[in-house]
Amino acid sequence: MALKRRIFGLFIIIFLLVQWVCFTSDEEKAVQGKNGVVVSVDQYASQIGIDILKKGGNAVDAAVAVGFALAVTYPAAGNIGGGGFMIIRFPDTRESVAIDFREMAPAGATPNMYLDEKGKYERTKSYLGHLAVGVPGTVKGFELAMQKYGKLPWEDVIAPAIELAENGFVLNKRRAKALNDLKQLKKIPKDFEVALSKSKEFFRIFSKPDGSEFAEEDVFVQKDLAESLKLIADQGSEAFYEGKIAELIARDMEKHGGLITNDDLARYEAFMREPVKGNYRGYEIISMPLPSSGGTILIEMLNVLEGFELGKMERYGQEALHVISETMKFAYLDRAKYMGDELFDDIPVKRLISKEHAQSIRENIDLNRTIPSAEIGKDILTIEEAEETTHYSIIDKDGIAVATTYTLNGGFGSFVIAEGTGIILNNEMADFNMKPGYTDDKGLIGTEPNLIAPYKRMLSSMTPTIIVKNGKIVMITGSPGGRTIINTVLNVIINVIDFNMNIQEAVNGYRINHEWMPDILRVEKEGILEEVIDSLKSMGHKIKTTRSQGDAHSIFIDLKTGIYYGAADKRSSGSAIGY
Ligand code: GLY
Repeated sequence: MALKRRIFGLFIIIFLLVQWVCFTSDEEKAVQGKNGVVVSVDQYASQIGIDILKKGGNAVDAAVAVGFALAVTYPAAGNIGGGGFMIIRFPDTRESVAIDFREMAPAGATPNMYLDEKGKYERTKSYLGHLAVGVPGTVKGFELAMQKYGKLPWEDVIAPAIELAENGFVLNKRRAKALNDLKQLKKIPKDFEVALSKSKEFFRIFSKPDGSEFAEEDVFVQKDLAESLKLIADQGSEAFYEGKIAELIARDMEKHGGLITNDDLARYEAFMREPVKGNYRGYEIISMPLPSSGGTILIEMLNVLEGFELGKMERYGQEALHVISETMKFAYLDRAKYMGDELFDDIPVKRLISKEHAQSIRENIDLNRTIPSAEIGKDILTIEEAEETTHYSIIDKDGIAVATTYTLNGGFGSFVIAEGTGIILNNEMADFNMKPGYTDDKGLIGTEPNLIAPYKRMLSSMTPTIIVKNGKIVMITGSPGGRTIINTVLNVIINVIDFNMNIQEAVNGYRINHEWMPDILRVEKEGILEEVIDSLKSMGHKIKTTRSQGDAHSIFIDLKTGIYYGAADKRSSGSAIGY
């Protein structure tokens, strides 16, 4: 039964991911811009970002407009019912800031809330339905970004999203298929069926009234969402957290056994945070601090790799892949051991990003064999995370750079839409550790720092990152992909810095992933020669292929010419636009 559930959990994740993200064979070139570049997963959203820049908005205005637009056109991950992170860098003051709009647990949440009376973890409850929803942060986060750094009026950056929701947007083939495939979710085991029976509003909105299939070129309209966006445009975040939308969410929660109350929504705050920073071969890495593990673990891995002459190695040869994979393994063990919401625990971030810690990891890496994960972290194992999130990168004419990664967690989140709102709610509660004090080799983790508690923010892997050289911004990157996110970002960064790839090659380049547990090195299909795979296997690596890892829409800035290069990831129907 447990196995069956795992298989179906994985099925949902893979099924949704594949609908929205897959390889294309086109070798595209990065787009160029002198005045601004926007790279996101969606052409509507990227165009809206560019229009905002042309209208005189800055990169923050554009980032908020893109975020609202994706909530309409990319409902698998774009959202106002989820949460995320934004890193902003200002070229004149050289100031960098992080905005944390991660979801938080509601007041009624408890460490054991997903365990049955026998103490068994009920996975479905943490993924589907009202109990899976964390208090959303996106609207407060966007409002905070605009209040502090936006130039345009609030309503101007929401207007394009309202237009898309009210009058619809044209589905492309992939989006139409993704909506049609949602029907298959109903053909699943009993407990999924029970959870999804509370998702009537979701399926009403994401099906055609006559039950027919969506087709390419269909115009997809979301009237309720348009009304919610109008309320937010008129009343600001108050509409969402204290006004009509809050009322509708709290009512739906009460009706269907969810925990989020009016008080939880009213209490929610987005925070300004100090980004986590590191140095890698003369580049400054500026990334997301806790409650994301992303920036810390990225810098930890780069520190370890700095001690190896990666650039002299074959990019996809045995030596480089072994060293990178072992580095990932050790860093992800630290992630599992130490990381959580720092308001609740002391997290040793300083130590983890120190060069001394990196040195101690290097001393433990054996260049001749892989060290089994169980040998380095005997008592801790982790669960899979959903791989649906989205990242976008923006730079404006003044060189203000924004990296935003935000999410509903799983594709389409919890499949809950509170009646009358049109807003898909996240299933971010599944990012907490599920079973206190209990770890096993099947994938449960019970370590303290990321256990559920009221008002706590669940640990994330999102890694929006900006890279600076000699004080000047050279790169903006990030990715979706659950726990694979940090490794995707690492792959892109080393492709540019160590392997001298241009940004499009770096983004398109094959990726590998090791998360400590499961003790598996995943490589993108066809990316690595068979003989290299064999030699890695002979060193003890357990290797699996994966169809596609991440979706890293990135920007590179040529410091000599000042030209911006935008690279949409070839794995998705992403869109890079420059002007
Ligand atoms: N839900 C994915 C993440 O926050 O890392």
